[in-house]
Amino acid sequence: MSRVAYVNGRYVPHRHAQVHVEDRGFQFADAVYEVIAIRNGAFIDEERHLARLARSRRELKLAAPMSDAALKLVLRETARRNGIRDGIVYLQVTRGAAPRDFAFPKAAKPSLVVTSRRMRIADPRLIANGIAVITLPDIRWKRPDIKSVALLPNALAKQQAKEAGAFEAWQVDADGNVTEGTSSNAWIVTAKDEVVTRKADDSILNGVTRLGLLDIIAREGMRFVERPFSVAEAKAAREAMLTSATNGVLPVVKIDGKPVGQGKPGKLALKLAAAYRDFMDGAA
Ligand code: PDD
Repeated sequence: MSRVAYVNGRYVPHRHAQVHVEDRGFQFADAVYEVIAIRNGAFIDEERHLARLARSRRELKLAAPMSDAALKLVLRETARRNGIRDGIVYLQVTRGAAPRDFAFPKAAKPSLVVTSRRMRIADPRLIANGIAVITLPDIRWKRPDIKSVALLPNALAKQQAKEAGAFEAWQVDADGNVTEGTSSNAWIVTAKDEVVTRKADDSILNGVTRLGLLDIIAREGMRFVERPFSVAEAKAAREAMLTSATNGVLPVVKIDGKPVGQGKPGKLALKLAAAYRDFMDGAA
């Protein structure tokens, strides 16, 4: 089956899908996006993704390209035309194409691009083995709570992780506290079996998986606190993990080359990874 993309009102062959050279997403990263997991044909936590998209747009005074109801149809049709029942749908809204000028154009129409591709969501092998992270300074702008496509610092950090043989890079603020991964949220479990993740303020993206896992933790009556944690605390933690739409919950077994806990996936991380997978399977 050949791939298809949705671009501004048309479904086109993926290899010919294009936006204008003066699209502000291309020129200024003046755009927001979402990545939604599809599992057994179900769109996982779609409402929360669309609510976050609307918030990101509002923060940037970016108009909606269409209603949420219409957008849901386009997301489904794009997945359907690509034959995707397990993978992701990616959507990006830009301020549109206009002669290059930093200030907002008066008459630009927002662009909407949607793609979909197969992917192994919450890969069981990664969950079973756990993954390694490195830490490095968080050099991003001060509003990572907005899911904008201005992802160059994230891309540079991920590349550094890859070159170090790690799966993810945890970014660290000026106080030595972990903010989040390049495309995931960061968590630890303390010696008292308390689950810790940073509060969702301006310094991180409020992950949809993060919110889903918080629901599960509350339901299970587990000990939990939202607060910053330092790199030193993470390295000394009993367990560590990360969350994202594409990975679900993944145990972190190494930080900067040093084992976390026993150097294998922790008991709570595995329990939460399984609970999150059950939640996704229940959506189908
Ligand atoms: N990234 N933090 C950052 C910086 C992210 O880019 C992401 C998601 C997350 C986790 O959010 P969620 O649980 O809603 O996926 C946290 C997506 C998957 C991406 O850019 O591919």
